[in-house]
Amino acid sequence: MTEIPDHLLERTRARRRALGLPVAGDDGGGAGGDAGPAPGGAPAPSAPAPMKSPVPIPAGDAAPDAPVVDSPQVAAHKARKKVPVWAMPVVAALPIWAFIYAGTVQEPGAPAIGPLEVGATLYDVNCAACHGGGGEGGAGYALDHGEVIATFPNATEQVLHVARGSSPIAGEPYGDPDRAGGQRVAGDLGAMPGFASSLTDIEIELIVWYERITLAGEELEPAQLATVLEDLQHRMETVGQEVDIEDLAEKVANGENPVLEGHA
Ligand code: HEC
Repeated sequence: MTEIPDHLLERTRARRRALGLPVAGDDGGGAGGDAGPAPGGAPAPSAPAPMKSPVPIPAGDAAPDAPVVDSPQVAAHKARKKVPVWAMPVVAALPIWAFIYAGTVQEPGAPAIGPLEVGATLYDVNCAACHGGGGEGGAGYALDHGEVIATFPNATEQVLHVARGSSPIAGEPYGDPDRAGGQRVAGDLGAMPGFASSLTDIEIELIVWYERITLAGEELEPAQLATVLEDLQHRMETVGQEVDIEDLAEKVANGENPVLEGHA
């Protein structure tokens, strides 16, 4: 299965329109899309704007020893109900909650959507402009019909490649040394931008599995597939982190594939 059913794409487009995102095909294709930060992802959940805790208002400029008498304004201020201190973390956490919400692209009342659908939306926004809406290729390599799996038998190396991009390893071979048609060499087709600073680890994994399973048609053992999807489903509800490129590179060099084995 290598083609996305049209109704799925239509749902993705509708969802993107609802989110106010550009939709390929609406305006003559997403060629200008480039590797901008993902609306659903990039803004790192930086510390929410610091909120002041209620500070007692100094009672005017009374002399240190003078009896303190509140002015009517100060008395009114003290009498007013305030957000209790214990509630501050709840209030301060709201922007992060909004980020999680946007990251899972859920509409209120809509049934929970699966990791491959979220991966499809992230792919559409970040990758389709260069690799084609169905992975058929363009400025970047085709990923469909098993192509991306031929390059990366190890899914973790694919995560590494997307996070790091190809410029830092320009001229070096990557992926399967025995790839049909010859091993890939970074830079041969141009520059693949790195996404480590604009997408989180979980977002990149969601895209990678969408590319492998939906676009390239990878057939995993049913038990493996269940592990991968459960892991993604669980982790996409949390705020991801920046990919640790050195750590991934080390694991790949050791032949490990933690992305397949899941994180549980
Ligand atoms: C600005 C265009 C552009 C964008 C956007 C882009 N890519 Fe690429 N991609 C390329 C180019 C060009 C190459 C080949 C680079 C080279 O020769 O080293 C490439 C290579 C790749 C490869 C290696 C494929 C192989 O078989 O060697 C993968 C995987 C990949 N891109 C995935 C992605 C993903 C996932 C995204 C979105 C998160 C993405 N790309 C976004 C242009 C792009």
